[in-house]
Amino acid sequence: MTYPFLSVVKQDFQAVDDLIRANLNSEVPMVEEIAAYLVEAGGKRLRPLLVLLCAKACGYHGSDHVKLAAVIEFLHTAMLLHDDVVDESDLRRGRETVNAAWGNAPSVLVGDFLHSRAFEMMVDIGNIRVMEILSKATNVIAEGEVQQLSFIRNPATTEVEYMEIISRKTAMLFQAAAHAGAVLAGANEKTEHALRDYGLHLGIAFQMVDDQLDYLGTPEELGKNIGDDLAEGKVTLPLIVAMRNGQPDQKAFVEDAIRSGGVENLPEMIRLVKATDALKYTSEQANTERCQAMACLNNVADSEFKDSMSTLVNFVVDRHH
Ligand code: IPE
Ligand code: IPE
Ligand code: MG
Ligand code: MG
Ligand code: MG
Repeated sequence: MTYPFLSVVKQDFQAVDDLIRANLNSEVPMVEEIAAYLVEAGGKRLRPLLVLLCAKACGYHGSDHVKLAAVIEFLHTAMLLHDDVVDESDLRRGRETVNAAWGNAPSVLVGDFLHSRAFEMMVDIGNIRVMEILSKATNVIAEGEVQQLSFIRNPATTEVEYMEIISRKTAMLFQAAAHAGAVLAGANEKTEHALRDYGLHLGIAFQMVDDQLDYLGTPEELGKNIGDDLAEGKVTLPLIVAMRNGQPDQKAFVEDAIRSGGVENLPEMIRLVKATDALKYTSEQANTERCQAMACLNNVADSEFKDSMSTLVNFVVDRHH
């Protein structure tokens, strides 16, 4: 994939890819086979990019940012292997999911392998503050996934609860990527906090757009099926707003669809999230997060890396995949 914001860290980005491949090794062939299957399918690699850009924007001259970026991508990939089991998804990165192709057990167990390989590599970096940030982040992400589970098929889920869930399950890893990149580079406190908060807002916007694309996207562009959220009765922002803005019969339709799950209501739901301006509201909220992320960059010294970080925000919010 070619990104407009990639040129400034192109070599490092290639080095991350090499390191990812080099660290998939295992004495158990099935581990290598499954891990390589998912990694070779690609992925946008946004989180490792974030690590590289943040470390470089803080003047980092070492080489551990490449390892840190690979660690973050391994954590992310491990989460995807678990997520597709939990969400019963069968398409990811344009391929059959690991759970669909091999089954739930291999997906969970190889996810555990990648998660623990990430921690091995993290210990190798040997920066205690980076370890602190990443171990805290993975813990909060797990809480976010459980919190989301506790709200499944519950039409009473509020926008505040939705924000808590996405901040934990998704934005936390973006935050940790940016924060750890800054800490590794020995940034001053003001810059460190600015980049941490930049990552948080970027991550919130990212998940809002993901939730919107689950109704609006195409499997060809996304590389994953649409309607997965509705199928499992997941209450995302488009549905919360459709219930808030809709006429009584429209509200009742959304509530029933959330309680029953399944994809048979998808075409009507797509019409409804458009008609009630629910998708428009979701875009506006993502835009607010975009502005907040950009504002955080005001506290970071100017550089070509910082410029790429603002391009990255626009890419995330305006993307169709
Ligand atoms: C998918 O993340 C998981 C979410 C947090 C929505 P990405 O859309 O970044 O997945 P890849 O790595 O590009 O496949
Ligand atoms: C992803 O949320 C969050 C994590 C992977 C922790 P989703 O379940 O919406 O992600 P996709 O849409 O399957 O990629
Ligand atoms: Mg999920
Ligand atoms: Mg999912
Ligand atoms: Mg999704």
